[in-house]
Amino acid sequence: MSAHAPIPAAAVGPPLDPALLERIERALLAFLENEPLPANLRAACRHAVLSGGKRLRPILVIECARAAWDAGSEGSPRDPVEAALPAAVAMEFVHAFSLVHDDLPALDNDLLRRGQPTCHVAFGEALAILAGDCLLGLAPIAAAASAHHGAEIAQELMRATVRMINGQVYDTLRVFPEGLPERERLELVHHNKTGALLECSCRIGALAVGADDATLQRLTDYGRAIGLMFQVVDDLIDATQSAEHAGKATGKDAAAGKLTYPGVHGIQGSRDEIERLRRSAMDTLAPLGARAERLAALVQFLASRTR
Ligand code: IPE
Ligand code: IPE
Ligand code: MG
Ligand code: MG
Ligand code: MG
Repeated sequence: MSAHAPIPAAAVGPPLDPALLERIERALLAFLENEPLPANLRAACRHAVLSGGKRLRPILVIECARAAWDAGSEGSPRDPVEAALPAAVAMEFVHAFSLVHDDLPALDNDLLRRGQPTCHVAFGEALAILAGDCLLGLAPIAAAASAHHGAEIAQELMRATVRMINGQVYDTLRVFPEGLPERERLELVHHNKTGALLECSCRIGALAVGADDATLQRLTDYGRAIGLMFQVVDDLIDATQSAEHAGKATGKDAAAGKLTYPGVHGIQGSRDEIERLRRSAMDTLAPLGARAERLAALVQFLASRTR
């Protein structure tokens, strides 16, 4: 594993074991189906959760659990994937809620998500707002069902959710602490609106298997680097890809007056920042050796994705 490995030219989806993805999809569906909901709310929640996302956050929860798992230590769960699944489901519920509300007319006013009509287009605004609320309510219930550190995981997830909402406020309403330079405003938006949930995914995966403090800190640092990188790449996708390819509207950020990396640093400056964050994430993983191989492959994918 080298911090300086070339970025692959093209990457289609996150590198992972299809059986794991299947397990995540089944767990998401099972949790939703077991919840007593009115039929229209259930349909809107299903649309929000089950319509083909990359599942990056649940994958990170589980891969961080696997990387942090110490089979020999007392009290360690028997199966790290099983131990991390409730946290993975909970995180994807928060993510789905954030997207449904992000797409609403009052926020980004988007019509297309994952190549399909957005939740409010398909179900109307009232139900989309309520489906988002419902997923936000279900998330800590799912998280608290974790066999190890359930209460702590639920609390971390809700703290990160509040950080995400703070980021959305900065992104949408653009009122910042007085005197903050533009580049720091941009980092504040991105670390919060997107970085918070990605960093939290790594932390709750580690917590689900009772990681030691040093490993938890290492995976937190990894999550912070890839969390910021994820939104820099998302900004580049908005600036350079077609809606057909991305599955969502593109070319909208500049028109909407958003603070973005291409807007502030330029296209090449954004690419340089992605490379800096990629190396920083890889360096953070280096001491974990072979245990972090899948997390390293994820960094490479995230640096080069185009949708
Ligand atoms: C989109 O996240 C929202 C951002 C934080 C940029 P993803 O690109 O992970 O969305 P899905 O879940 O794969 O559709
Ligand atoms: C979204 O940022 C961050 C969230 C908290 C959902 P964007 O508004 O850039 O995400 P997309 O481009 O709509 O997926
Ligand atoms: Mg937005
Ligand atoms: Mg948006
Ligand atoms: Mg975007």
